[in-house]
Amino acid sequence: MPPNMLHLTYAEKIARDELKKDPAQAAVLAELDHLAKAIENRKRQGFFARLLNPKTKIHGLYIHGDVGRGKTMLMDMFIDALRIEAKQRIHFHAFMQDVHQRRQNMKSGDVIATIARDISQQTRVLCLDEMQVSDIADATIIGRLFEALIANGMIIVTTSNLPPGELYKDGLNRSLFLPAIKLLQTRFKVVSLNGPTDYRLGRIRAGESFVSPLGAGADRHVQKIWELLTEMPQGQPCELQVLGRKLLVPQAAHGCARFSFEELCEAPLGPADYLAIASHFQTLFVERIPALAASQNNAAKRFVGLIDTLYDAKLRLVASSAQPPEKIYRQGRYKAEFARTVSRLQEMQSASYWGQEFVETREITTEVLDAAIDRA
Ligand SMILES: Nc1ncnc2c1ncn2[C@@H]1O[C@H](COP(=O)(O)OP(=O)(O)OP(=O)(O)O)[C@@H](O)[C@H]1O
Ligand SMILES: [Mg+2]
Repeated sequence: MPPNMLHLTYAEKIARDELKKDPAQAAVLAELDHLAKAIENRKRQGFFARLLNPKTKIHGLYIHGDVGRGKTMLMDMFIDALRIEAKQRIHFHAFMQDVHQRRQNMKSGDVIATIARDISQQTRVLCLDEMQVSDIADATIIGRLFEALIANGMIIVTTSNLPPGELYKDGLNRSLFLPAIKLLQTRFKVVSLNGPTDYRLGRIRAGESFVSPLGAGADRHVQKIWELLTEMPQGQPCELQVLGRKLLVPQAAHGCARFSFEELCEAPLGPADYLAIASHFQTLFVERIPALAASQNNAAKRFVGLIDTLYDAKLRLVASSAQPPEKIYRQGRYKAEFARTVSRLQEMQSASYWGQEFVETREITTEVLDAAIDRA
């Protein structure tokens, strides 16, 4: 790789106005550039030379930061530019699924060591996108697996929303995962990418976040905002632990959660559920808020609680509604409290609430969005 190849690619994209200049990204790019050069030098020296030379002991880079900061984009630029054949870029979950599949197919022996050897025979540089650990089956083997991959000379680059020390927080038998955290902290270079800009956010206007009336047009509008914010047509279901039980989130992706009003406010959910949602996501989609009759006091009360929780936590809201906020619930037991909800729903559509003062990203074209969705 010629010197600063990645920087050149990045600078060209900025010059063509495809990307905004971002000093936080430039710093991470420098680390990736450094790693890319080390890998190409290692390739020239040959496998045995690199085993004998302790200076060439580079194991990986762990990039963490909030959603939409450009982690995946930079990692993809890195792997695309790398001039070696034996490279692989894969979503972390897909990688772990493959590992579990291989385990099932093997009967005995040191299973992890064998899997690591098999994988590293085909792949020298492994890019894992969106590392997150929520499953005990993963938590139990990641440390040993990464250790074995590294021992086979593999370089791993990974992105995550969390620093290593916060992975699998509150997970079952977390002590099993502590060696993995130590490994990531000591054998990987851990870098944070946390500029002020969530680039996905810049694609939508805050005022578009609340749409009424309901209908096919509103559904399409919410879907479009979902795609702009997540770059995928549909999220994955996930479960949150709330007071010892499980709350199902029907769709989640890139800091966004998506529910219908019915699932959130007509089901027997309470303040603890709304708090759990607010602490796990940055944006909540609530679809198909109906006009609430006086008889629907329970749903109205839950909706008041939901909006209070979102507002306190500064969560962004994307909603479709039969009526504008002031007409959703015009009479009933919680009418007085609902006045606060109306005012908050209105404020939550403002650019300042969305934190968009500083955001001014390029208009996204359908082609760019489609390409991003394909990539995901
Ligand atoms: N400097 C930039 N200028 C304009 N757009 C950018 C810039 N950096 C990233 N983007 C765009 O912003 C979107 C989000 O970037 P990316 O997917 O890399 O974020 P991420 O940090 O991986 O987020 P997540 O944690 O949600 O996976 C992408 O479409 C990317 O092309
Ligand atoms: Mg990403």
